[in-house]
Amino acid sequence: MVTDELVSLDEISVRYDLRGSSLSRSKIYLNALNGVSLNILKGETLAVVGESGSGKSTLAMTVLGLLRHWKGSIAYHFSRHDILNNSERKMKRSELRELWKRSSIVFQDPYSALDSKKLVKDIIAEPYLGHGKGGRQESEERSKELIRQVGLTEDHLGFYPDQLSGGQRQRVAIARTLINEPELIIFDEPTSSLDVSIQAQILNLILDIKEIHSLTYMFITHNLVVAKHVSDRMLVLYLGNVMEIGPTESIFSGPLHPYTKLLISSIPVPKSGYEMTQRESREADVNSVNLPGGCAFHPRCPVATKYCGWKSSEVMKLVIREAYLMLGLENLQGETADELSFRLTAPDAETAVSVNRMITGRDSFRIERSEVKENIVSCTLHAPWTPRLSQVGDRLVNCVLFDEEFKMQNGVSPPRSGR
Ligand SMILES: Nc1ncnc2c1ncn2[C@@H]1O[C@H](COP(=O)(O)OP(=O)(O)O)[C@@H](O)[C@H]1O
Ligand code: SF4
Ligand SMILES: [Mg+2]
Repeated sequence: MVTDELVSLDEISVRYDLRGSSLSRSKIYLNALNGVSLNILKGETLAVVGESGSGKSTLAMTVLGLLRHWKGSIAYHFSRHDILNNSERKMKRSELRELWKRSSIVFQDPYSALDSKKLVKDIIAEPYLGHGKGGRQESEERSKELIRQVGLTEDHLGFYPDQLSGGQRQRVAIARTLINEPELIIFDEPTSSLDVSIQAQILNLILDIKEIHSLTYMFITHNLVVAKHVSDRMLVLYLGNVMEIGPTESIFSGPLHPYTKLLISSIPVPKSGYEMTQRESREADVNSVNLPGGCAFHPRCPVATKYCGWKSSEVMKLVIREAYLMLGLENLQGETADELSFRLTAPDAETAVSVNRMITGRDSFRIERSEVKENIVSCTLHAPWTPRLSQVGDRLVNCVLFDEEFKMQNGVSPPRSGR
């Protein structure tokens, strides 16, 4: 089958079992990827960006067939082999070997990635000999050619990793990846642990190598400046969910998803080498164990609507805080009835009316209905809507503001409210 896609991922979900970890003795799963679908097109560089913990490395491991427990399916369309990796069926050994020949990875840390007891020539040749592609003489010839291509000399083949600098080690790691003539290389933060002064050299080497070997790249980074420099298309991950995917240039000139907007607007100008960090203004304790309902980004989203997945406990805290700030109320008692409703007990009926007036006067509390009975204010939230990836021009965007199905089912566009 002729296709522009080298790899197609369909509804990939990965959860890690945290039993036995220090976190808990009971059954707790960490959802690292939640129904991720995407294509990697032949010849492109697809950047995968997202904060630490968003699932980037898990995605890399899944594409390389290195995870045991996952759900979904992945189709690979290599030049001479189509391979299907489906979580329902174990891949044959021969398929796995072919996958590992045709795809490869360069890790962030060139120190731990290379075996310190081996000579550079053996490190580079190992995957070639391991796959039984040819003999020692051929592997040596290829190693000599590759060591020059990555900007080192034949002398370096006789060195141990400890005798090389960080940048030189990463060059060796790149040469090793190339020895089996892969079609896909995944780079997992390949320059993050290097000195800023040599990051650009390694990035340019990576780009040159792509042209020489007609490669396809998946390039993982938390550095948006790097993503912009190297990629044709970009995928934004947040807590294991694809938030936006599309041409890099177009995303940078007009991001659509509120999270992408936040990331791009936070890039300091003109300082390069900016790294995304967890935002200090983060209001809720959100992580992949305790995933919020509706849209995973809602606790941090500056334009979240009442449909975005608020829980009664979250909104109740906000109302009590605002009642203190706006009305000076110190003794408003709250109690959740269920995930979508809560009750506030005011000291008297008159105060309850004031609290209700405050609630109805502000859309940003995202309360669907509220009513007062004596000194009790009862509040109900809107049922959460979990957005799906929707095509918007040249992008796919995962936000209720762009979700056509939401509009069809509800007959409305969600208001673009702010806080
Ligand atoms: N082997 C593992 N066991 C348990 N949790 C893991 C494991 N590997 C990764 N995680 C968790 O999965 C989430 C995604 O991790 P990862 O894919 O490494 O993200 P990223 O590469 O974007 O930093 C994180 O919350 C991380 O702590
Ligand atoms: S669905 Fe869109 S508007 Fe709602 S919280 Fe998520 S990103 Fe924000
Ligand atoms: Mg990682």
